[in-house]
Amino acid sequence: MALTPQWLDELRSRVTLSTLIGRTVKITRAGREYKACCPFHNEKTPSFTINDEKGFYHCFGCGAHGDAIRWMTDQRGLSFMDAVKELAAEAGMEVPAPDPRAAKKAEAQASLRDVVQAAADWFAQQLGSGNGAPARDYLAKRGISEATRDAFGFGLAPDSRSALKEALKTFPTAMLVESGMLISPKEHGSDKDPYDRFRGRLMIPIRDARGRVIAFGGRILGDGEPKYLNSPDTPLFDKGRTLFNLDKASPASRRTDRVIVVEGYMDVIALAEAGIADAVAPLGTALTESQLGLLWRMVPVPLLCFDGDAAGQKAAMRAATRALPLLRPGFSLAFATLPAGQDPDDLVRAKGAEGFAGVLDDAQPLVERLWTHEVAAAALNTPEERAALKTRLLNHADAIQDPDVRHHYREAFRERLDTLFARARPERGPRVPWAPQGPRGGGRRFQPDPRLQPPADETRSIGQAGIAAPLAAALIGGLLRYPEVLRRHEEALARLPVPDSADAELLGLMLDIAMREEGLDTEGLLAILEPMKVYNRAMALLRADRMHFSFNRRLEGDEGVAKARETALRDLDEYIGVLVTQPEIRARLAEATADFQRTMDDEGLARQQKLRAMDEELTRRLAALSDSSQL
Ligand code: UTP
Ligand code: MN
Repeated sequence: MALTPQWLDELRSRVTLSTLIGRTVKITRAGREYKACCPFHNEKTPSFTINDEKGFYHCFGCGAHGDAIRWMTDQRGLSFMDAVKELAAEAGMEVPAPDPRAAKKAEAQASLRDVVQAAADWFAQQLGSGNGAPARDYLAKRGISEATRDAFGFGLAPDSRSALKEALKTFPTAMLVESGMLISPKEHGSDKDPYDRFRGRLMIPIRDARGRVIAFGGRILGDGEPKYLNSPDTPLFDKGRTLFNLDKASPASRRTDRVIVVEGYMDVIALAEAGIADAVAPLGTALTESQLGLLWRMVPVPLLCFDGDAAGQKAAMRAATRALPLLRPGFSLAFATLPAGQDPDDLVRAKGAEGFAGVLDDAQPLVERLWTHEVAAAALNTPEERAALKTRLLNHADAIQDPDVRHHYREAFRERLDTLFARARPERGPRVPWAPQGPRGGGRRFQPDPRLQPPADETRSIGQAGIAAPLAAALIGGLLRYPEVLRRHEEALARLPVPDSADAELLGLMLDIAMREEGLDTEGLLAILEPMKVYNRAMALLRADRMHFSFNRRLEGDEGVAKARETALRDLDEYIGVLVTQPEIRARLAEATADFQRTMDDEGLARQQKLRAMDEELTRRLAALSDSSQL
């Protein structure tokens, strides 16, 4: 359309804004302006002002702001073109004829729009029909109300290769393919006919900024692959330039002054169900530059919400580094971290909107997210390690193109580094309380820090994803060879998180047997295990010689057997100490890292660094043990 800025200015100048707004809102004169109770938010005293001279309205309460055209789109819900047409008719202006090329493109798009809208209507009808019962049950089970279902336009694609094709047969097949609704094998060199892309899926319309359907996301009903399927990019739909729910979140964000970005569209929908309307989601990809641009058009500091697990934190850093080159004065990002393994959908369901708000309250500014990430990323004991931290941070700052923002990031990082190292200096870095003293491999063996055990029951269950399966196998192999160790470490072994359930069962049985029978040797233990189904596994572990620990090797020949046996027993004791301690240290390290990222206080950092040093020391102990068997 050839609507020039000059023509639009002319249109605005011919419209008296107070008259236009006065038609739907009660306005009163106040000096050179008009006042009203804001139609965009609930209020009793007027904070909405209209300035006819400048041609705009502004609300000091909610920040709603715009001109006559904006009024027609935001308050009256018209499309931009319809708003322009209506205002022009009143102002007695002729809307310029569209230029023919743009018109043709618009027409083509319009007809593709008709296709996807027709598909959306048909999917919605399917969901409402008898066929839709299982899908409706699924939605109900996820706590999605009928109102939300309708607001988002949920639908159902039946499990058929031709149902939609048949239903939309009034459209040319080529258009159905171009709109992404059908897959055409011919485009991939086959002679097969086009067929329905979405089959057996719950359908969620994806809309453009103006609320028009441009594509679909389809979630599999039940289990299956892929879980989510999106329309391909089409003339209507460019995945990297679209944000799910932008059309609804954009007006909502004007009321809340906030935009939340979550990972999945089901999260957006669950938040809407909980009354949080200002959320958007990318469409299965990391945030693009274009999407960041869309967000910054709504608010200066969009709030990104990520899972607290490792993958989520990696995604957060990816978004952070992508944003750096684009930062401008006043525009940034904030990062909210969800409890590990929970998405916003899980969280609002468990803790309600307030629980989710709590997570948002703890959001970190971008500068702090970069800082805490880099500080927690590696040890900081040596001058080299500290210098490396500085390099990493300044590299982030250098990625910022805006000179002012870049300067302030450098300053912020320098200040924080000075404070951090000024404090750390007198302590000479974290100490490992039970690090071996004297020459390595000397008399002193592993002794867990008494402060670390016995762990409280609550902490025992936290984060015990288990010890690595091969380490557990080596342990059980060693215990089969030296059953006397079972009694000595009964308590520690009983609470060891063994990941493989068959191995866990075997270890449990071995402990039971050892507690009943004093003085068992390998032969005796095997005799008791023989009738049981774990026997084969026990034999396999005993024979395994891939394992690089002294206690997994068979003692052969007479020479040095006693000595080798003594070494093996000592190694096994120490090995058990490390295995028991490390999962607890790691769980605490994960906790301490998360805590520190939230609180950013000195104490938190010291604790986090100390736990990291302990974890590293334990890993070194394990490595040292496995080496000793290869001598
Ligand atoms: P998740 O696997 O975390 O899904 O993917 P979810 O949103 O929690 O979904 P529910 O609760 O199991 O239904 C997050 C996002 O990643 C994209 C989708 O955009 C999804 O919303 N995704 C995921 C895909 O594009 N394809 C997939 O196969 C899986
Ligand atoms: Mn989910």
